[in-house]
Amino acid sequence: MTAATDFIHRFVPGRDPDAPVLLLLHGTGGDENDLIELGRRLMPGSALISPRGKILENGMLRFFRRLAEGVFDLPDLKRRTDELAGFISASRSQYGWEKNKLIAVGYSNGANIAASLALSYPEVLSQAVLFRAMVPFRPDVPAKLDKLKLFLSAGRHDQIVPVENTLELKQIFETSGAQVFLHWHPGGHPLGPDDIEAASKWLHG
Ligand code: MLT
Repeated sequence: MTAATDFIHRFVPGRDPDAPVLLLLHGTGGDENDLIELGRRLMPGSALISPRGKILENGMLRFFRRLAEGVFDLPDLKRRTDELAGFISASRSQYGWEKNKLIAVGYSNGANIAASLALSYPEVLSQAVLFRAMVPFRPDVPAKLDKLKLFLSAGRHDQIVPVENTLELKQIFETSGAQVFLHWHPGGHPLGPDDIEAASKWLHG
C-alpha cells in the first residue's frame, strides 16, 4: 500500500489500540511482506508497519546504498534514515497511532537502518529488536538514548558481521545510555528459532 508517505509499505492494524506498534525492516533482497509473520508472532496484539526499502542493488531491495559488503555509503545512509523518520511521522497521523510507542524489528540491512534511526532520532523508538545488526556509523558525540531498550541478536559465526563489530555496536549504544541485551546465536547470518524465542522472551519478560 502507498499513501501519504512515499514508501511502498504494508500496514496491519492491531487488536489492541494501546499496544506498541512494530516497525518491521526487512533485510537485503526482502520486501515489506517478509517480517509480517515474525511481527505477529513477537507481538500478537500490535499493529505492524512495514516499509519497503527503496534502493535496488542487483535486483535486491535495500534501505540504503553500500559501497561493498559491510561498507556503507554514509551520505546515502543519512538521507535514507531521514526519509524513514519522515515516513514514521507521516504514518503516525495517517494510521492514527500518534500516542503509541514504536518498537523497531529489523533483520540485517533493516537492522542497520534501525540502528541508524535510533542513533539519529533518539525520540522515535522506545525499543528495538535488531537481528544481525552492524555499526551503521560512528557518532561524533554519543546520542542521548537513556530511554531506549535494545535487544541485539548476533551470530557467533556470521560471515557478514564480525563479532568485534557486534561488540562495538553494543558499546556505542551503552555509551549513549541505552539498556542493551545481547543474545548470541550459535550459527551465522540466517535466523534460527533461538533468535525468535530470545526476542520474544525479552519483549514479554
Ligand atoms: C548491509 O549492507 O546492511 C549489511 O551488509 C547487511 C546486508 O547484507 O544487508
